[in-house]
Amino acid sequence: MSRSAHPAGPRHADVLPEGHYSAPPTDLNALDAKVWAETVTRDTDGVLTVGGIDVRRLAEEFGTPAYFLDEDDFRARARSWRTAFGDDADVFYAGKAFLSRAVVRWLHEEGLNLDVCSGGELATALSAGMPAERIAFHGNNKSTDEIRRAVEAGVGRIVLDSFQEIVRVAHIAQELGTRQRVQIRITVGVEAHTHEFIATAHEDQKFGIPLAGGQAAEAVRRALTLDGLELIGIHSHIGSQIFDMSGFEVAAHRVVGLLRDIRDEHGVELPEIDLGGGLGIAYTSDDDPREPHEIAKALTEIVTRECDAARLATPRISVEPGRAIVGPTAFTLYEVGTVKPLDGLRTYVSVDGGMSDNIRTALYDAEYSVALASRVSEAEPMLCRVVGKHCESGDIVVKDAFLPGDLAPGDLVAVPATGAYCRSMASNYNHVLRPPVVAVRDGEARVIVRRETEEDLLRLDVG
Ligand code: LLP
Repeated sequence: MSRSAHPAGPRHADVLPEGHYSAPPTDLNALDAKVWAETVTRDTDGVLTVGGIDVRRLAEEFGTPAYFLDEDDFRARARSWRTAFGDDADVFYAGKAFLSRAVVRWLHEEGLNLDVCSGGELATALSAGMPAERIAFHGNNKSTDEIRRAVEAGVGRIVLDSFQEIVRVAHIAQELGTRQRVQIRITVGVEAHTHEFIATAHEDQKFGIPLAGGQAAEAVRRALTLDGLELIGIHSHIGSQIFDMSGFEVAAHRVVGLLRDIRDEHGVELPEIDLGGGLGIAYTSDDDPREPHEIAKALTEIVTRECDAARLATPRISVEPGRAIVGPTAFTLYEVGTVKPLDGLRTYVSVDGGMSDNIRTALYDAEYSVALASRVSEAEPMLCRVVGKHCESGDIVVKDAFLPGDLAPGDLVAVPATGAYCRSMASNYNHVLRPPVVAVRDGEARVIVRRETEEDLLRLDVG
């Protein structure tokens, strides 16, 4: 099909309908470094490249849709978190954001620890050689089998999430003749400024044990009496995609308050405090995330100040960034299948993936950006909604974005900042096959998670 301009459809700022967008960008071909992985650029022909490789070549070799992950960027971000916190703190990468064996090896090489929250994540971590003592095991309903495997493997810590689990882990550890290092996850009663589904420190939700009403203090009391447990600290995770440090400040204040009460009641100073993850990234040019060194400085200062006030020795801090490490390192490459201008509304651009490879827009009303990747264009901007191929009208990848008015089937478009919670939350809805993850570095691309096949689907269907 030729790249002629479409006969109808909104294109100019003066005919735009209401939506979540600002004015069209002055240069649609420009790449905002905030949202793209480090090595992403346009070559002299205007084609998007990552790690020195042209996306048209990548699409030819690996197909679309596919996630392309900039390995150097991942390593650099992991390293910058580790160096920002230095030797007096521990950085646990949150595997739920995206986990594969290659990622585990990179983390190991870069000196990070790993937070897992299921038997599957634990198995992936161990099979790729992450030392068990560098693994933290999370979750609000770990099965006894998962707990047993974690204790047997010798994980560095289990984060306890309920009164039942305190007893369960203690029994299993005792049965196995060991003492398990544990933290207790508490809810500090902070309303994090983020989407309701990813806020986790207010009391009315499933995670953690509330500080309010003395429940957390009671959990500590019980944990301290059980022989199978070595209580090493208190854990708090306030939510995700957070930019404002004030929530962490309140959380640290309350966690330290509990540490002080524990010292006063039991004469024990717990040596560790884990402030969780949740640091936001830029999905669009409107987001302004902080650098790891600023975050490390702010968190360390807050904890030190609170501890000084409580006359406690400053405990060892740990953090659990997931999205902030992997999110910006990958983009999803799609091929445009249809372009449908709707008069007075916007143009619907259908791509060959959708809510099965990125559920975040449908689930959290998340905002993404998008760029024409296989070429540049001087055509007028047109207001688009990038949608998937699923049988669902909420199957939206990018709600409101400007793309060039000559966009046509066969063009490749790229959605940046899809490294976190896209492949890891991917589904087989409509029996669509989950895309591969391809790591790109120094002019070489290699599949680290292969594309699902119809045989994979049919293998599970044993009826
Ligand atoms: N630590 C704990 C205990 C967590 O529960 C989480 C995320 C993290 C660390 C990592 O948070 P991060 O730094 O990646 O924000 N699916 C949602 C996010 C759910 C996060 C769940 N827990 C999303 O796509 O936004």
